[in-house]
Amino acid sequence: MISRYTSRAVVDLQGVGMARSGKAILSGIDFTVLPGEQWLVFGPNGAGKTTMLSVVSARAHPTTGKAIILGEELGRTDVRVLRRRIGLSSPFLARQFRPNQLVEEVVMTGRKGELETWWSEYDDSDLEEATRILCSLGMGDFVGREFSTLSSGELREVQIARAIVGNPELLILDEPAAGLDLGARERLLEMMPKLLADRTSTILVTHHVEEVPPGITHGLLLSGGAVVSKGPIEESITSDTLSATFGIPLELSRSNGRMSCRLSSRDSSGSLGPASR
Ligand SMILES: Nc1ncnc2c1ncn2[C@@H]1O[C@H](COP(=O)(O)OP(=O)(O)OP(=O)(O)O)[C@@H](O)[C@H]1O
Ligand SMILES: [Mg+2]
Repeated sequence: MISRYTSRAVVDLQGVGMARSGKAILSGIDFTVLPGEQWLVFGPNGAGKTTMLSVVSARAHPTTGKAIILGEELGRTDVRVLRRRIGLSSPFLARQFRPNQLVEEVVMTGRKGELETWWSEYDDSDLEEATRILCSLGMGDFVGREFSTLSSGELREVQIARAIVGNPELLILDEPAAGLDLGARERLLEMMPKLLADRTSTILVTHHVEEVPPGITHGLLLSGGAVVSKGPIEESITSDTLSATFGIPLELSRSNGRMSCRLSSRDSSGSLGPASR
């Protein structure tokens, strides 16, 4: 079925499937992101979140189905041009940088969605912007350091700076808070609403609902490479959908735009206690 949103959607996956080494990793994914929507993608380890984002960020082609990103259909467009319009922070991308590249060079390559500064032409203004973003996020001390000398948490933060350089139309953050200490995590969460407000659409993956910033409007729950629920965040991410996905009784609560989740206490009938939404 052709999505009625195709023409103006930021992301439009239609029946996307992905197989790797003969194994189905994603199947029948229908996922549409409209301008102004900020999405959370949530699900257990191995659910297929990073694989789906590799399609959405134009790093991988689906095995089946159709992927239209920022109006461009994968397989019918120059992905090198498309990647310039997408900001990506992801563990699979972080592993690909040359370890002795300077931090500001890594950030600079985000502007064109590349891995090395020599892949195309960069000028002084690109370097200035990379340095300015690092300084504005409190990472001025990292300028001049080799990428491989950063701690895992620092590396995550530099990835976020790299993702927003060049003001991309679509921002994709795969586990941006993983490995951050409490202070760094809270600083990121404090900064996120502005990051979200500054761009058309964002897709965020996290393993902890506590790391979901205010401003996220929609949720997609994945399990076993398939969609469990999707839609406005209050309807798609609930005690019931999380319990079903993780196979344990969970109780989700919301307060001041933040969520938290814990094991549910069961009532005497053995059913879940009142679902907190
Ligand atoms: N090249 C590959 N060959 C075989 N299996 C693969 C390959 N790449 C990924 N997988 C498998 O696909 C599944 C989904 O991987 P993916 O990285 O997308 O999960 P994820 O939801 O991002 O998990 P996590 O929360 O742990 O990051 C995993 O079981 C993984 O082992
Ligand atoms: Mg992943």
